[in-house]
Amino acid sequence: MTTRRTTEGSAEPLVVLSHVDKWFGDLHVLRDIDLTIHRGEVVVVIGPSGSGKSTLCRTINRLETIDKGTISLDGEPLPQEGKALANLRAEVGMVFQSFNLFAHKTILENVTLGPIKVRGQKKDAAEKRALELLDRVGVAHQAAKYPAQLSGGQQQRVAIARALAMEPKVMLFDEPTSALDPEMISEVLEVMVDLAQRGMTMVVVTHEMGFARTAGDRVVFMSDGAIVEEAAPEQFFTNPQSDRAKDFLGKILKH
Ligand SMILES: Nc1ncnc2c1ncn2[C@@H]1O[C@H](COP(=O)(O)OP(=O)(O)OP(=O)(O)O)[C@@H](O)[C@H]1O
Ligand SMILES: [Mg+2]
Repeated sequence: MTTRRTTEGSAEPLVVLSHVDKWFGDLHVLRDIDLTIHRGEVVVVIGPSGSGKSTLCRTINRLETIDKGTISLDGEPLPQEGKALANLRAEVGMVFQSFNLFAHKTILENVTLGPIKVRGQKKDAAEKRALELLDRVGVAHQAAKYPAQLSGGQQQRVAIARALAMEPKVMLFDEPTSALDPEMISEVLEVMVDLAQRGMTMVVVTHEMGFARTAGDRVVFMSDGAIVEEAAPEQFFTNPQSDRAKDFLGKILKH
């Protein structure tokens, strides 16, 4: 059980997707998605390959446009372009499977770049904050190194620190541990659990059931572009309702 849990009634909606549809050509990748993510909530998105999980994440920071429906963040519809769009990207932190750090910048520079360029922070202040965040994710002593000198797990923790440096309202994680060697998975998950316990609003695409159970408030199960089932993690994993969820869990539990 998580120590942080808002009571259903008092939680404010932060991200609201309403009747969202998206096509890639003829392929209907998001089908009438209704999803409300409350402030401080951790939503784990799970489902078979190709079910639309990454696309869903990418629509929330507008890396992908939608064809129908609406998405709002903190009561405002997502901006279409320009400076407002750059600000949105700063408010929605994203951590991908591949770490996407700038190879020719140091760890410290990777974390301070956004705050200085987008948020207009002074270099000193940005560096102070970056070192705090790097310390929080356990890599402060690597600040002067370059990404290639770090392990995959360390690079992913830097990627999390870099996203946090922008003071995002919500953090999206798209299979953040699936490219990592097994021994590095837990160190990244620990950072994510800590973040959840500090009250960060998070959308996490992952098949790590330990994480879902420890830190997740809700599991959203997607199949063929639609949300098929939503439940508390324990309920979802022990007693899935739909045949598609049962089938999917049967497959991943065998591994
Ligand atoms: N840019 C694109 N152009 C065309 N089709 C796309 C594009 N991106 C994704 N798709 C297709 O949309 C569907 C949903 O893809 P998406 O990446 O969202 O699935 P996913 O659930 O994240 O899968 P995985 O578990 O493999 O990461 C898939 O059929 C995919 O092939
Ligand atoms: Mg994906």
